Amino acid sequence: MKKNCLLVPAVLLVAACATAPSPQDRLTVNDKKIEQVIAQMTLEEKVNMLHSKTNMSSAGVERLGIADMHYADGPFGIREEGVPNGFQSAGWTLDSATYFPTGSALAATWSKEMAYLYGTGMGMEARLRGKDVILGPAINIQRLPVGGRTYEYLSEDPILSAALALEYTKGVQDKGTAVCIKHFAVNNQETNRGSVDAQVDERTLREIYLKPFESAVVEGGAMSVMPAYNKVNGDYCSENGHLLNEILRGEWGFKGFTVSDWGGTHSTMGAMLHGLNVQMTGSNYLGQPVIDSIATGALTEDLVNEKVKQILRVRYAIEAIPDDVANTKMTSQPESQDIAKRVAEKSIVLLKNEGVLPIAKSVKKIAVIGQNAVLKTQSGGMGAGVKALYEVTPLEGIRKRAGADVQVTYAPGYKNFPGRRWGPAPAEPNPLEATAIDEPADPALLAEAVALAKDADLVIFFGGTNKSIETEGSDRKDINLPTGQNEVVAALHEANPNLVTVLISGGPTDLRQLEPVSSAIVQGWWNGTEGGTALAEVLFGDIAPSGKLPFTFPMQLEDSPAYAMGNFPDPNAGGDLFTLMYRQDVLKMTPAERQAFLDSLPKPVSKYTEGSLVGYRWYDTKNVKPMYAFGHGLSYVDFEYGAMKASAKKDVVKVTFNLTNKGGMSADEVVQLYVSRPEATVEWPVKELKAFDRVTLAAGETKTVTLEIPVKDLRYWNVDKNAWDLERGKLVLLLGSASDDIRRQAEVTI
Ligand code: BGC
Repeated sequence: MKKNCLLVPAVLLVAACATAPSPQDRLTVNDKKIEQVIAQMTLEEKVNMLHSKTNMSSAGVERLGIADMHYADGPFGIREEGVPNGFQSAGWTLDSATYFPTGSALAATWSKEMAYLYGTGMGMEARLRGKDVILGPAINIQRLPVGGRTYEYLSEDPILSAALALEYTKGVQDKGTAVCIKHFAVNNQETNRGSVDAQVDERTLREIYLKPFESAVVEGGAMSVMPAYNKVNGDYCSENGHLLNEILRGEWGFKGFTVSDWGGTHSTMGAMLHGLNVQMTGSNYLGQPVIDSIATGALTEDLVNEKVKQILRVRYAIEAIPDDVANTKMTSQPESQDIAKRVAEKSIVLLKNEGVLPIAKSVKKIAVIGQNAVLKTQSGGMGAGVKALYEVTPLEGIRKRAGADVQVTYAPGYKNFPGRRWGPAPAEPNPLEATAIDEPADPALLAEAVALAKDADLVIFFGGTNKSIETEGSDRKDINLPTGQNEVVAALHEANPNLVTVLISGGPTDLRQLEPVSSAIVQGWWNGTEGGTALAEVLFGDIAPSGKLPFTFPMQLEDSPAYAMGNFPDPNAGGDLFTLMYRQDVLKMTPAERQAFLDSLPKPVSKYTEGSLVGYRWYDTKNVKPMYAFGHGLSYVDFEYGAMKASAKKDVVKVTFNLTNKGGMSADEVVQLYVSRPEATVEWPVKELKAFDRVTLAAGETKTVTLEIPVKDLRYWNVDKNAWDLERGKLVLLLGSASDDIRRQAEVTI
């Protein structure tokens, strides 16, 4: 952009550069045409656009050539086609999609490039399916280690989340599909998710919880936004004037449309007056009641016109795919499968290594133990499940890579906990399924696993959780490893101390018992279609591990901020798993009965008094040692951080240093720059991440790396002024390989 500006004469330059439209303003290019179209529409046609047509679409106006809007879950693969009025499978054959690594895995790459590519893969596959809007990315902050959707979300840190949310958004939208960023906002727990009031102070709201949304909207031009199920400071998100009208549209200049979470619309007047465009699903609020309210004068048709205009801006920006063009080839395509593999390769985090990894050439017999080595992870977790075209499990990946030379044996080791069952119970109990999450180890499975371990050169234990345990709709009760895994790993260690543990989970687990008995620990995530291939490449040393934790692994759950402050769990929480939309008894009630029922419900509250001390901000500030810190992740090589030069200009703080790969193989390092403010008069955490980059270095190579912090990112939300503000003064810049591994430091004054 700048270069082009320099080529034009000075007078034109001012005009040309000053008028470059922002990503949001680009959505308004068709406004004139849209107004003319709206003038031809009846009130009924307009209101018909404000609610669902089917479970995954909202109506256009066929008479005027306006196509319906087709939505697809997201965020880790285009969800299989459901029946028109529900989530049950439509039984299609061409709708198998690429299963991309889940949110925390993507975030563990700390790679803007990967997040962008990931978005392009999702965007491409959405187009093949004729989908206009992807219900994702899911970009809330991971506040609770037990959060049911912690695995869907990206990180506990707003800067990392914002950078990846921005690139994901750009990637999707560059492929001609709209994102619907979710869940706006402060959606950090599943317990009472349909009714809980998240009570958070304005500064924390702005600096922590809104930051990823702000970047995706303002810089990324996100075209649609999904208000969350919960309330924020008293009002449901789908009718929260502060969030939707004042901040999203007023301050961030959002020009697209909002879609309530499924069943998350709560009233006609609240939604209409406070910023909702489309009720998903149902029409009991934004259907006939809107027409009736206009008739009584309670609402104006102008307001309906404005909402329709916001929807049509996106409809005109996204090319509708004709029915005979969509779904003519398989959704999953090799190009996206390759992206999924590249993301997975960069996401795997080596938490601990006492030299057993990479697997030595002398290892000729490997015992793989644990059901998580064979469980497919594409489905489950509710909305974020994917019907994958294929999925390479860890065991398959290991077997393939090991080749004929190395014998790989397998035993399940422990029972799998399948969670709640939707269909009828099976006639015969499955001997590999536990009936309780904390069921102790099964003696027969344990004995079988120990026998294999004794007979092997190396044991790889696959532990962790599954998508019945970490899932939308409920939070975990604790972060303990389920179904006796600690007992199993202890017995394996006794049998053969040459033991590597691979954790297959989306969120953190309690590793206090497992850590001392494992010679190496790898966080392997739910890593998509090619997850098993990528894992094997890392274990065998074809590539060096390079993922870094996007969240803290606490030593114990009670150490984590919301727990330590007594803010979670709420002792009065009833734990409504689903929104009222799904409750048949509530659906059958008359409006008066329904209101009485709603009034009788408890009013759960979640207090956010830990403020901005979320994740590592808390552990650092309160001096609580975690099991593994935010940003932690080892490699097979060492990196040397050279002396750091730092400077502060008006708009940017910059550091430059040399980074050297001291090892014998190519490897990536994620360099992290934190800021500390020793003289601040405003309260701050001990340190905060402000910049990062992923650097690829050949064996022995040195590169000069520059990291920049825009000064605007150093501002805080001044509650007295109700505006962003900058406190000038001394900054300590802390450069390192993890939040607890700072290698260089320098001071600047801004
Ligand atoms: C989830 C959303 C999802 C929607 C549609 C809701 O229950 O919270 O994330 O996009 O369902 O499946």
